[in-house]
Amino acid sequence: MLLKNCRVLYHGEEDIKDILVEKGKIIKIYRCSEVEELDIDEIVDMDGNWVLPGVIDVHTHMRDPGLSYKEDFETGSKACAKGGVTTFIDMPNTVPNTTTKEILDAKESNSKNRSYVDYGFHFGGSKLDNSEEIKKVRDRVASTKIFLNMSTGDMLVEEEKVLENLFKESKIISVHAEEEMVDKAIDLARKFRKPLYLCHLSKKSEVEKLRAAKKEGLKIYGEVAPHHLFLDSSMANSLLIMKPELKSKEDNDALWLGIEDGTIDTIGTDHAPHTLEEKNSKTTYGIPGVENSLEMMLKELNKKIDMKTLQKVMSENPAKIFGIAGKGKIEVGYDADLVVVDLNNKEIIKNEDVISKCGWTPYSGIVGGGKVLLTMVRGHIVYDGKNFIEKIGEGVNYKNV
Ligand code: DOR
Ligand code: ZN
Ligand code: ZN
Repeated sequence: MLLKNCRVLYHGEEDIKDILVEKGKIIKIYRCSEVEELDIDEIVDMDGNWVLPGVIDVHTHMRDPGLSYKEDFETGSKACAKGGVTTFIDMPNTVPNTTTKEILDAKESNSKNRSYVDYGFHFGGSKLDNSEEIKKVRDRVASTKIFLNMSTGDMLVEEEKVLENLFKESKIISVHAEEEMVDKAIDLARKFRKPLYLCHLSKKSEVEKLRAAKKEGLKIYGEVAPHHLFLDSSMANSLLIMKPELKSKEDNDALWLGIEDGTIDTIGTDHAPHTLEEKNSKTTYGIPGVENSLEMMLKELNKKIDMKTLQKVMSENPAKIFGIAGKGKIEVGYDADLVVVDLNNKEIIKNEDVISKCGWTPYSGIVGGGKVLLTMVRGHIVYDGKNFIEKIGEGVNYKNV
């Protein structure tokens, strides 16, 4: 397959290129001649639209199994395809929690042939100390996710000895840690010399802690969720409740600065769908995200974020941090995971367009920064701007981190 007239960032420069894809991989990035084209069976013209590496969202709660009335693998992955997300990593607070090898095995087989995009799993650290289970699965998962603060699900781990064992046996640890718990997580990572991924940082003080840890030379990474960049506490209502909660405009600004100076490594949505009924009837933490993260981030393109940084935080860095093999860049040898966006088509985000089973979006009424025209996973078009085509999603592989 040949993708013609792709506007790409190539060696750091904006350029128009043709991308040759074979067996799901990018095999050539060039300007092909008419003669060569005769041999190619399928040609798709991108008309000079931007072609970005598919978004890798390493922070999603797909609710499957156990909570599939909120979301399931099919609907969640479909929402990803619509949003330009070509790989998602699922969190362990499903029911049962992903805290044993057996449960992970079941989750993996349950996901087969049900996803439109590629996927992986975080394993869960348990307060009952499942470090023996971690040893069995650590090469098959993105990380061990540990909740250091209370949130949706009952996965809080508080006991020092248990935390130490979980850190000791993990390849890399992701944490839900807020404020002083960020210090705690960094202390444990330093002590056990482990890479640490700080999920959804939301406060200026947390970004400062991360900046200092990086200066010290520790392998500590930080994620920001789009809602902490675009929404703030003055907007909070019964729908816009999540953990960590929305913060001040000043905090949002500090997060943007963190992205600009490289302190913040990734955008992860914390896609946490709950039904409107649940949101309206009781305090329920979490909002959906995968469908709108790219179009929201594109709103600030060439303002608060440049194209290079956007691709880094949404694709390249997530793949690098978790060692997701063959993904995250438009480069020869990489998977043909691509998203095509029309930056001139700025549409109003609407609840009625939502694909996620929860049926609503925190961004309704906001004008997006561009429209996803096409999403491709390993050379397969899974979304053509209107239709969802093929459930060809597969589990990703991991390299050393
Ligand atoms: O708001 C949140 N919702 N924060 C979390 O940490 C978990 C998530 C969920 O699973 O609903
Ligand atoms: Zn969290
Ligand atoms: Zn989360």
